[in-house]
Amino acid sequence: MSSNEWLNMLMTFVIACVSTAILTPFSIRLAYRIGAMDVPKDKRKIHSKPMPRIGGTAFIAGFLISTLIMFLFCNIDRSVNFLEIDLIGFYLGAIIIALVGFLDDVNTKEKGLKPTTKLFGQIIAALCMVFSGARILYINIPFLETYGLNDILSIIITVGWVVGVTNAINLLDGLDGLASGVSAIAVLSLLAIFILNGTAPIVLILVAALLGGLLGFLPYNFNPAKTFMGDVGSNFLGYTLAAVSMMGMAKTYTLMAIILPVIVLALPIFDTLFAIVRRILSGKSIMEADRGHLHHRLVDLGLSQKQAVLVLYAVTAMFGIFAIVLMESSIWKAIGFLVIMAILVLFERRNIRIRNRKGLPKEQVKNLSDGGKLRVMLVFGTRPEAIKMCPLILELKKREDIVTIVCVTAQHREMLDQVLEAFNIVPDHDLNIMKAKQTLTHITSEVLKGVYDVIQEERPDIVLVHGDTTTTMAAAEAAFAAKVKVGHVEAGLRTYDKYSPFPEEMNRKIVTQIADLFFAPTENNKNNLLKEAINEDEIYITGNTVIDALKTTVKEDYKFTHPVLQTIDFDKKVIFMTAHRRENLGKPLHDICEAVKEIAETIEDVEVIYPVHLNPAVQEVAHEVLDGLDNVHLIEPLDVITTHNLINKSTIVLTDSGGIQEEAPSLGKPVLVLRNETERPEAVTAGTVKVVGTDKDTIVREATKLLTDSYAYEKMSKATNPYGDGNACDRIVEAIRYYFGLTKKRVKDLK
Ligand code: UD1
Ligand code: UDP
Repeated sequence: MSSNEWLNMLMTFVIACVSTAILTPFSIRLAYRIGAMDVPKDKRKIHSKPMPRIGGTAFIAGFLISTLIMFLFCNIDRSVNFLEIDLIGFYLGAIIIALVGFLDDVNTKEKGLKPTTKLFGQIIAALCMVFSGARILYINIPFLETYGLNDILSIIITVGWVVGVTNAINLLDGLDGLASGVSAIAVLSLLAIFILNGTAPIVLILVAALLGGLLGFLPYNFNPAKTFMGDVGSNFLGYTLAAVSMMGMAKTYTLMAIILPVIVLALPIFDTLFAIVRRILSGKSIMEADRGHLHHRLVDLGLSQKQAVLVLYAVTAMFGIFAIVLMESSIWKAIGFLVIMAILVLFERRNIRIRNRKGLPKEQVKNLSDGGKLRVMLVFGTRPEAIKMCPLILELKKREDIVTIVCVTAQHREMLDQVLEAFNIVPDHDLNIMKAKQTLTHITSEVLKGVYDVIQEERPDIVLVHGDTTTTMAAAEAAFAAKVKVGHVEAGLRTYDKYSPFPEEMNRKIVTQIADLFFAPTENNKNNLLKEAINEDEIYITGNTVIDALKTTVKEDYKFTHPVLQTIDFDKKVIFMTAHRRENLGKPLHDICEAVKEIAETIEDVEVIYPVHLNPAVQEVAHEVLDGLDNVHLIEPLDVITTHNLINKSTIVLTDSGGIQEEAPSLGKPVLVLRNETERPEAVTAGTVKVVGTDKDTIVREATKLLTDSYAYEKMSKATNPYGDGNACDRIVEAIRYYFGLTKKRVKDLK
């Protein structure tokens, strides 16, 4: 090759690389603007946040800019030996195939284009290439002869090659940097082969442009990716790879003309062939996406995205070198090279197994997470869990040695979203399981399966669950099934009555059996765990995270924006009430509402504010009994900030809620608990909470006493706080770091 040709190649490479690197950020901005985002919705998606997905437009632009500059301004010979390439046809095909991909990427609402439409576009593009002159003219059958192809066969085989390679690259595009990096390595191998076999300058320019574009794009696409290439990128890449490999081998009449490009692209080609066979064998459509690709399997083996991608880069490089050795020397040398590689791979497998995090003993885990970072995944689904987990998320996110993953089951939908919004938290995974009037079996089965799949994808070192909901229990089960450690926040609460609260008492007992780390809010909770033979070393008294939340939400000068609350005179006797428990549904809830009605009708200057839980079984009874009373305000569930400030401004609280029994005492508000027992005896002992049950007369009597007897009120309204000092989250995070060896100091219990 002449020095001029080297210089042209270098210039093409540099222009493509630099222009792609400059243009990729613009493609990201454009993706946000036009909504071309890849939102992770199913378990095939390894990424957890919405991602721009038209990054391919940048390297397409880089490729076009560099090659057009070269072809227009530098005198490059256009012939590919006997193939006369009409560049306009080649570019037209490239633009058509990229456009098909682009339309697929931007058409996010209708789940992209139909597979048949995409295929049709790819075939049209391939035909443009054929008619531009770039086509397969010969075919070599191993150990037989070289056959010249007639026009029809030549067109069919060329179109098949283009469509096949395009779809193979498309399928490979499943991990950050995988398709772009593997393609770059394949292109580099092709470049070496073409230089060695004296391929025409026009092909070298195209290959150098492709390589430059890919390398300019890779820093944005490698893990953690800032953008995906999208179908626009993978379609274009497949098309150009198919084209250049065909053009570059045009001069070679031997078997190598077919074998070398196939070897260089062996990874995407065989992964696709295996996918087709797999889908046929399992009776699925060959177009149906699945999670069985090589890269998925590596991730399922326990490798991080980065590790899986690097392994596949190495495999592609190995195939590339094999192809070069095969072309330059004998088949025996090439096989010898393969044997050496196989031995190295077997050796590397041991390391891969060591790096696998699944089910490792705790003392090893600290060495293994993402670059030495610990992966902590929080799972929750209902309003109270969210209120108590959000401060913990914020605390975890402050630590540089921790990767925080948030998975919500959305056992509650609207009531959960209200909390996420208040704390400004966007979950990484949302299972969206809520159904109207859902059953415990529905919640359990959906959470179990959904969380298990997320765990497989995310490979956390520990899963944190909270309290006692069915989400809590099923998420802990899922983590156990995946042999991942479980940390139980708000552990050790008990009534010792299996059916009350139902199903919470059983949920928390099950989680106790599964968990590895226990964050008990109070000493009493710790003692309950010790009674169940939990190892004391694994229990931390942390306080309740809800007190951490209260520190940020309550403001003495808070002004309500809610239209009903703006009309309330807080100098009156304001009762804040909630009721939702499963065991209270039906007659107990009816009796509670009748009691409230009597209180509202008989006591002077009373205002009752009742944000009614969205459960239809609660809504029906509350409205049936309490509608029409001027001083009873049935409103929709409130956001957590409004609620905490409303409790702070109320006179007394009537509730069957667990969380409110913790919040109201620390705000100095007497609480009458509308249940027959409580797992939170601390505030009862302190004298600010009284368990009154669901009997109508008892509720009326106790509430009347509090609202009319100032001595009784004063006695109960002392602010006491048995539930913590507002530093529970810090203690929990430090306890986790200690457990995984990230700190040598065991955090002190709350005194
Ligand atoms: C759940 C928990 C309970 C916790 C309570 C906090 C279980 C079995 N129960 O009870 O421990 O104290 O949350 O509030 O885990 N709904 C909506 N939108 C929402 C939320 C609920 O429409 O945002 C309706 C739905 O119809 C749903 C029903 O409420 O089916 C009941 O929700 P569910 O989570 O099953 O029970 P909760 O009584 O809320
Ligand atoms: N809460 C809220 N909006 C409301 C009612 C309650 O944000 O309209 C908050 C309340 O401050 C407490 C939590 O929800 O932090 C309690 O939730 P819930 O009563 O649903 O569940 P429990 O605590 O009984 O499990």
